[in-house]
Amino acid sequence: MKPEKITNDVYSLRVNHFNRRLFDSLIPLPEGTSYNAYLVKGSEKTALLDSADPEKAAALFDYLKDEKKIDYVIAHHAEQDHSGSIPLVLEKYPAAKVVTNPKCKEFLMTHLHIQADKFIEVKDGETLSLGGKTLEFVYLPWVHWPETMGTYLREEKVLFSCDFFGSHLATSALFSEEHVVYEPMKRYFAEIMMPFRSNIKSHLEKLAKYDIKFIAPSHGPVHGTPKFVMEIYREWAVSEPHNKAVVAYISMHGSTYMLVNRLVSRLQERGVCVEKLNLDQFDEGRVAMSLVDAATIVIGTPTVLTGPHPKAVYAAHLANLLRPKAKYVSVIGSYGWGGRAVETIAGLIPNLKAEVLKPVMVKGMPTEADLKLVDELADTIAEKHKTTVPCGAGA
Ligand code: FEO
Repeated sequence: MKPEKITNDVYSLRVNHFNRRLFDSLIPLPEGTSYNAYLVKGSEKTALLDSADPEKAAALFDYLKDEKKIDYVIAHHAEQDHSGSIPLVLEKYPAAKVVTNPKCKEFLMTHLHIQADKFIEVKDGETLSLGGKTLEFVYLPWVHWPETMGTYLREEKVLFSCDFFGSHLATSALFSEEHVVYEPMKRYFAEIMMPFRSNIKSHLEKLAKYDIKFIAPSHGPVHGTPKFVMEIYREWAVSEPHNKAVVAYISMHGSTYMLVNRLVSRLQERGVCVEKLNLDQFDEGRVAMSLVDAATIVIGTPTVLTGPHPKAVYAAHLANLLRPKAKYVSVIGSYGWGGRAVETIAGLIPNLKAEVLKPVMVKGMPTEADLKLVDELADTIAEKHKTTVPCGAGA
């Protein structure tokens, strides 16, 4: 493969991983992913920005086969999908120095056993000249790890943003198309950045002063429309939740399913947008994405032994980890002879700063009186949502 030109003296060394289906042995990748390294060539020095997952190192080195000299390896992030091939890069280019911040240096020494004398430490805002090309380092801690940074190439107005603004999307297109990249970006944001929304907000404010023509992230295509990308991130990270309820459920004998259907239908009649997720086909990314803008989360669960269904437990645990914006939560479900499903779910979500709305748990198949309680829950949710943002606004 030949490096793909983005702009003057800036090249993409993107390694697509089309058939990877799971990240971190956890996150489904319906559209694969890519590990993006970049090459910036000054009149005096050449910099490689990040590397590739070691599993795909051969593809990275295929891009580099005609590259005689690398002076600097800019390490934005120590997670191995980007840093894992740096030791191999240093073997091929022994004179190269790894340029990064002190925290990332510490991680790279610990995780990859790179020796201290291979590093040049840079401060936030510090610059490095390659000869007619100026790299400015921009700390972006807690995109999801504490050491992450980006680089702004002043002359070409390119922001190399690392995981920030990335997408798990393997594609042959170098540049993103808004309608194609939107969902993979949202999925990626939801899976790893949603818990760090306040940091994302600060980073967006920090980046506002830069004149950015291209955003070159570490996953997925390059963005030639930075305004669009910044605006959807602002929407996901900063704006108030939407008039939307996520109803995530599992049913064993149909009783919980009846409650869920009643709730969904009554919410829709009251103008509340609903995302109904059957946890029987659990897709962590889909669940995460649904939570980005929902004002209410309702878990629907039958009782297994004395507690919630294990898939409902997993969904609640995931929501707790992801810390979405939701302001209200509730539980609906059923039991055969008893149990503590509601109390167990409530104990699983301490990170959600949400008001718990009156749950509806019924014994066996719901009666008309039980369904009326579901109607009341729908009334409460619709009333609470009167101050929320209309569905789909800004998206
Ligand atoms: Fe793509 Fe946090 O690594």
